[in-house]
Parts: sequence; C-alpha cells; structure tokens
Amino acid sequence: MHTLIFATNNRNKVAEIQSLVGPNFEIIPLKEAGIEIDIPEPHDQLEANALEKAMTIFKMTNQACFSEDTGLEIAALDGAPGVKSARYAGENSNAQANIDLVLSKMTGIENRSAQFRTVICLIWKNQTYYFEGICKGQILTTMQGENGFGYDPIFIPDGASKSFANMTMDEKNQFSHRKKAMTQLFEFLGTL
Ligand code: IMP
Repeated sequence: MHTLIFATNNRNKVAEIQSLVGPNFEIIPLKEAGIEIDIPEPHDQLEANALEKAMTIFKMTNQACFSEDTGLEIAALDGAPGVKSARYAGENSNAQANIDLVLSKMTGIENRSAQFRTVICLIWKNQTYYFEGICKGQILTTMQGENGFGYDPIFIPDGASKSFANMTMDEKNQFSHRKKAMTQLFEFLGTL
C-alpha cells in the first residue's frame, strides 16, 4: 500500500482523483492531513507550479506527496489561458467569468481546437518525478451541461458526443487529462 498526500485544496480534483484510486493506494487530501494553507502558483509553467505545490507540502510533512497543475490550452489563443486558467478573467475571477472571457475571445473563430494538459509532480523518497496527461478536444460556442467544474461546460473531447459537463465522472475519466496523468503515476509506483 502506498500512501500519498495530494497537495491541493480543490475539492473537484480530490473527488476526481479519489474516483481513480485502486486498493493499493491511499490518497490523503490536504484537509484530511490537517494542513490548511493556500499554496502559491506563481510560475508561468505548469511543471514549475506543480513542483512548488508538491515541495511546499513535502517541506511541511516530510511525506511522499504529489500535486497537479492543469491548464486549458487553446490553439487560436496561442495556448491561452494555459497556466493562467484559474485566473484568466482576473485575480479573483470564477469559472463563469473565465468561461465568458474565453467565449468572447473565440467569437467568430473557426479553429476551436484546444487541449487540457495536466502535469503531476510527485516527490517520492527525496526524488522528483513528473507525469503528463493531455486531452484534446474542441471549444464549444455555448455552455453545455452542469457537471464537473472549471471549463467543463465549454469543452468537448475528441471522440466524445457531449461536453465534459454533460458527463458523469466515470465518463469524463474515459477521456480526461487528469486520469491519463494519474494512470502514469500509479503505474510508476506500481513498479517500485
Ligand atoms: P489549477 O490546476 O488549480 O491551477 O486549475 C487551473 C484552472 O483550470 C482552474 O480554473 C480549473 O477550474 C480549470 N481546470 C482544471 N482542471 C479542469 C478540468 O478537468 N475541467 C475543466 N476545468 C479545469
């Protein structure tokens, strides 16, 4: 059994990742580890933010931990919102404001290709490891669905017939960037 602290305060990410965990792993969210801090994400690369989050928690706990940073990368917007996905419409913006800004910038644009990219940083026995998961898809012209979080209502993965926000968690897991990155992490730990 491998026990890992998951360095996030995002309840949606915790729920998604808990839904993937098999019997050989125990994932402890920060709250359950008794840690209540806002972890900074000051960098302009997903990898650097993931490292900062994992390292912050590792220094506090000295226990194996991982973090993830995710961005929505839209081709026609030169990869934006990317690493700024959480605060695209401003420092205190919410999901609706971020979606509104994306939709307005995408008005009239035909190329709607985009991808979610998740980078996981694992700190295990004083070593740092990275895992990446990508989900390619398209940006819709209107919001569709109520499930999920963040940009889920305006993203439809390639090969799917509905938006992430119209999927159950299990359905989203069949396509998701986060699932792909976590699968690599589980496979890596399974080989140790
Ligand atoms: P961060 O990784 O916590 O910095 O999140 C980046 C931003 O991307 C946040 O605004 C999230 O809401 C959004 N985001 C992250 N993962 C997903 C996802 O799976 N679906 C939709 N939006 C997401």
